[in-house]
Amino acid sequence: MASSPSSSSFLLLLLAFLAASAAAASLDGYIHLRFYNHERVLGSGPDATVVYAVERRRGSTAGAGFGNIIIYDNLLRAGVEPDSPIIGRNQGMGVGSSMAENSGLTNFQLVFTAGEYNGSSLALQGLFPVAPLGTVFERAITGGTGRFRLVRGYLLTTEVRSTNTTLTGQLDAYITFR
Ligand SMILES: *[C@@H]1O[C@H](CO)[C@@H](O)[C@H](O)[C@H]1NC(C)=O
Ligand SMILES: *[C@@H]1O[C@H](CO)[C@@H](O)[C@H](O)[C@H]1NC(C)=O
Repeated sequence: MASSPSSSSFLLLLLAFLAASAAAASLDGYIHLRFYNHERVLGSGPDATVVYAVERRRGSTAGAGFGNIIIYDNLLRAGVEPDSPIIGRNQGMGVGSSMAENSGLTNFQLVFTAGEYNGSSLALQGLFPVAPLGTVFERAITGGTGRFRLVRGYLLTTEVRSTNTTLTGQLDAYITFR
C-alpha cells in the first residue's frame, strides 16, 4: 500500500468502506471482516504460541482457572485451513476472572500484516468463556490504529475446529468508523 499523503489513505478507506457497505448493505454503516485465529494449545513455536505465565491448578471444578494469567501470540489466517494465508497476529492476554464458571477477561490486539489492512490494528477486550465448539461469544472493539483509527465495534468468536494440539476460531469483526 502506498504511504503517500493522507488524502490517498482517506480515499482507500472511503472506497473500502463503500465497497464493504455495498457487499453487506443490511449492516448499514458497518464493515464486516471475517478471519480465523489459529492457536496452538500444546507446544510452542513461531507460528502459534500460548504461554501460561501464571497458573494455579485447582482441579477440574468450575472456577479452576481463577487467577491464571495467559499470554498468547496467535496467527490470524484468511481461512480455517492451517495453510491458508497469514493476514496478521492476535496478541494479548487473558486473566481467569470468574469464581463461578470458567471464563476470563481478555485484552488483546489484532495486528494485520498483509492485505488491505496491513500495518493497522484493532484493540479489543471482553470475556472469553470456556464453552463447547460452536458457542458464539462477543467482545468489544474499543479502538484501533492506522486505517482503524477511532473505530468501534464488536467481535463475534466461534471455535470451529479443535485437535489435540490446536484450536481454531472464526472471528467476525463488525466495525464502524466515526
Ligand atoms: C506489509 O507492510 C510492510 C510495511 O509497509 C511491508 O514491509 C510488507 O511487505 C507488507 N506485507 C505484505 C504481505 O503486503
Ligand atoms: C494427537 O492426535 C494424533 C492423532 O490424531 C496422534 O497421532 C498424536 O500422537 C496426538 N498427539 C498428542 C500429543 O497427543
